[in-house]
Amino acid sequence: PLSGMEQEDAIRQEMGSLHGIPLFKSFIEGWPQVEAFQARPDDLLISTYPKSGTTWLSEIMDMIYHDGDVEKCRRDVIYNRVPFLEMKVSKGPSGVEQLENTPSPRLVKTHLPVQLLPTSFWEKGCKIIYMARNPKDVVISYYYFHHMAKILDPGTKAEFMENFMAGKVAYGSWYDHVRGWWEKKQEKMLYLFYEDMKKDPRREVQKILHFLGKELAEGTVERILHHTSFQEMKKNPAANYETMLLTVMDHSVSPFLRKGISGDWKNHFTVAQNERFDQHYQEHMAGSDLHFQME
Ligand code: PPS
Repeated sequence: PLSGMEQEDAIRQEMGSLHGIPLFKSFIEGWPQVEAFQARPDDLLISTYPKSGTTWLSEIMDMIYHDGDVEKCRRDVIYNRVPFLEMKVSKGPSGVEQLENTPSPRLVKTHLPVQLLPTSFWEKGCKIIYMARNPKDVVISYYYFHHMAKILDPGTKAEFMENFMAGKVAYGSWYDHVRGWWEKKQEKMLYLFYEDMKKDPRREVQKILHFLGKELAEGTVERILHHTSFQEMKKNPAANYETMLLTVMDHSVSPFLRKGISGDWKNHFTVAQNERFDQHYQEHMAGSDLHFQME
């Protein structure tokens, strides 16, 4: 049977509003189950704003959990190995149902803003890894994703950029998301950046291992780094989403693993758009000690 993520109506649907956050209507229908979700103390939550390196971090985490065993990490596709908490479509199992059938220790994916995270994760003291990516690369990645995943009509690139800045896209404002999670930072949360992971993946993997209280042999770390590189993941059917139905994701329009670099926005922003974006960014990040590398 097809998993929920593969159902034809999975993504191409209308947007509703969940506590003020734009979200797919079917996800909102499933919200009562998500809100009541029972986390387990050894769950590890992978939290991100969309297009910030979720799949990359998920593959790294699954490899760490399996001591760098590449074959074990091919046991299923990434969206089943790391179920998507709030995912719900009319047919197929929801993220919550998938998680209920997943043995511990579970890896859980979410894009929820911090104020909407089911309280059980805090109550059970679950570890959380948040990964953030600079907004210029996020908006470009999200724009191409809208085309290939046929979510909604993104409009022109200029229109999409305006909607993104205004928070009128699925999961709402990037600014509120990254700032909200940053302000919740505590001992049990590791806050990572896509740009750091690109620059020095070994150092970031070591950070994760330290956070987990886990040690791995140098050769194992090496294998994890190789297996989770952009080139390897792009050709790995268990990680590249090419197993999704063509009607849900069309990789010929734009592949899910599209470029995998920092600073691709420079190939897409006009000078005027960049100035406008910078000004908006300054206004919306004012007073925060959270800083981004734009390349
Ligand atoms: S989603 O749909 O929100 O879960 O998407 P997400 O996985 O967060 O983001 C997709 C972008 O991450 C890039 N990616 C990677 N970059 C570097 N290395 C590796 N291994 C990797 N895997 C995925 C992917 O290419 C998307 O970014 P863009 O800029 O569009 O290429």
